[in-house]
Amino acid sequence: MGPGPSSANPRVLRAMSLPIIGYLDPAFFDLLDELSGMLGEIFRTDQHSFAVAGAGSAGMEAGLVSLASPGDTVIICSYGYFCERQIIMAERLGLNVVAIRTEWGKSMDPQVLADTLRDHPETQLVVGIHAETSAGTIQPIAEFARLAHESGALFMTDVVTSLAGCELEFDKWKLDFAYSGSQKCLAAPPGISPVALSERALSYIRNRPNPPSSWYLDLSLIADYWGPDHIAHHTAPVSMIYGLREAVAMALNETLEVRWKRHEANAAALRAGLEALNLELPISEKDRLDQLTVVKLPQGVDDVKLRKQLIEEYSIEVGRGLGEFAGEVVRIGLMGESCVPANVFALLNALEKILPEHGWEVAKGSAISAASAQLAESPSPLYSA
Ligand SMILES: Cc1ncc(COP(=O)(O)O)c(C=O)c1O
Repeated sequence: MGPGPSSANPRVLRAMSLPIIGYLDPAFFDLLDELSGMLGEIFRTDQHSFAVAGAGSAGMEAGLVSLASPGDTVIICSYGYFCERQIIMAERLGLNVVAIRTEWGKSMDPQVLADTLRDHPETQLVVGIHAETSAGTIQPIAEFARLAHESGALFMTDVVTSLAGCELEFDKWKLDFAYSGSQKCLAAPPGISPVALSERALSYIRNRPNPPSSWYLDLSLIADYWGPDHIAHHTAPVSMIYGLREAVAMALNETLEVRWKRHEANAAALRAGLEALNLELPISEKDRLDQLTVVKLPQGVDDVKLRKQLIEEYSIEVGRGLGEFAGEVVRIGLMGESCVPANVFALLNALEKILPEHGWEVAKGSAISAASAQLAESPSPLYSA
């Protein structure tokens, strides 16, 4: 129940143990074609969908290196730890970064982006994270994309924590590039980054005066390997692709709408239980994520000791606060495979036992009954693999 990786289903792990075939074997091309179409359904796009070999950060770096050239102005919206990582990467790539820094724990007002675009009409690329896992916030990226396009820029987004956990519409929202991770709501092991790329963005990469400075992360070369001609690039991570295919198949089998509802219902139950323990949830209802709940640590409760006890005594992992939130909050993930009522109840039960040892008194049974009542009102769809 940390901020990722979440648990992977045994079906996914079994698929990853299948025999290795060549990355240029026609049977493997069939698998790539199938998976590309399935990822299109997950991202809701009829344009290009494939996977970058590497962690979510590889998807991030592939977008930054491919969609802008050194010296180009890139606006990065920053409201969390991973936004700051994008800024570091973009600066290392020699991009002219205009950072918009807004308060952590709140969704950014698109008007700030509109104003910045007015000051920087030369902007080549706008970057904004959809679900900021460090701050537990959801962001209005459809509006960010609209503003970027109005000013002639491309729009790139991070959907590492949102993909398959809440609504995401790549084509309808007119996104140009979205990268994700396998290890969150898709419930596969970490190490591969599913992405979607618009026609417009691909054509920019193909026609830019100088190719991206990274050969490995050039999105047009990776798109060519996944495209109809399957032009050789690096050796694909065959087992990761087997695993991703299985995980995506399970998500499509459940249907996205049901999966989103599962995330919504279990997060609501968790929040009801946490509130019954008198814990503060600092992110407003409008801005918060279901996949990741930020909880403020009450006075006197030691972050490190609490998380250690949860692991050692209850085998439950929750995440620490990052950046501005370090030492102030814990972050509870309910993602993919891990997003089930049994986990909600296990954690609430553990907290009810542990918190009084830290001097935070709780009404016995209150958290479990609040979560039960919430699930009775809005049940979690049954999850079965
Ligand atoms: C929003 C967000 N972006 C990017 C990343 C980086 O992904 P990875 O650790 O797979 O490189 C994470 C990881 O937690 C994340 O939550």
